Amino acid sequence: MRILIINGPNLNLLGTREPEIYGRTTLPELQEIISVEAKRLGTEAEFFQSNLEGELVDAIQRGANFNGVILNPGAYSHYSLALRDAISSIKTPVVEVHLSNLFRREPERHESVTAGAAAGIISGFGPSGYLLALRYLVELKVTP
Ligand code: DQA
Repeated sequence: MRILIINGPNLNLLGTREPEIYGRTTLPELQEIISVEAKRLGTEAEFFQSNLEGELVDAIQRGANFNGVILNPGAYSHYSLALRDAISSIKTPVVEVHLSNLFRREPERHESVTAGAAAGIISGFGPSGYLLALRYLVELKVTP
C-alpha cells in the first residue's frame, strides 16, 4: 500500500509561519511523524509539497496510482476549482486535512470548494489530522 500526502502553498513554512495558528512542528518533522505511523500501519507514505496550483493538480492526478491521498490544499481550498476538478478526476479517495479549524477562523475560510469532491475533511486537529486520515485510508484499503 502507498499513500500520497500532498501539502499546498505556504505549508513549507510550517513551524515558523504563524505558530499560534499552525503550531511549531516543521514540515520535515510532520512528514517524519506520518512516515513512522505509516510504517506502523504497514503502509508507505510518499510526500509532495508545492506552492504552485498546477503542480498540485499534477500531484493529485498522480494520486490515481496510490491507495489514498491526503491533501492539505492550503488557501487554494477556498477557491480552486482546478484542484476540485483534479480530485474529482481520480477514483482514489482523497481526504482533505487542515491543521487549523476553518470554522473558528475568518468567514472567508469557512468555505472549502475542494472538500465537496473529497471523501471527507478533517480540520482543527493539527498534525494528528494527518494521522487520522492515514488510519482511515489504510482501513479502507482501496486498490488503485
Ligand atoms: C490551512 C488553512 C487555510 O485556510 C490556510 O490558507 C492554510 C493552511 C490549514 O492547514 O489550516 O494555508 O489549510
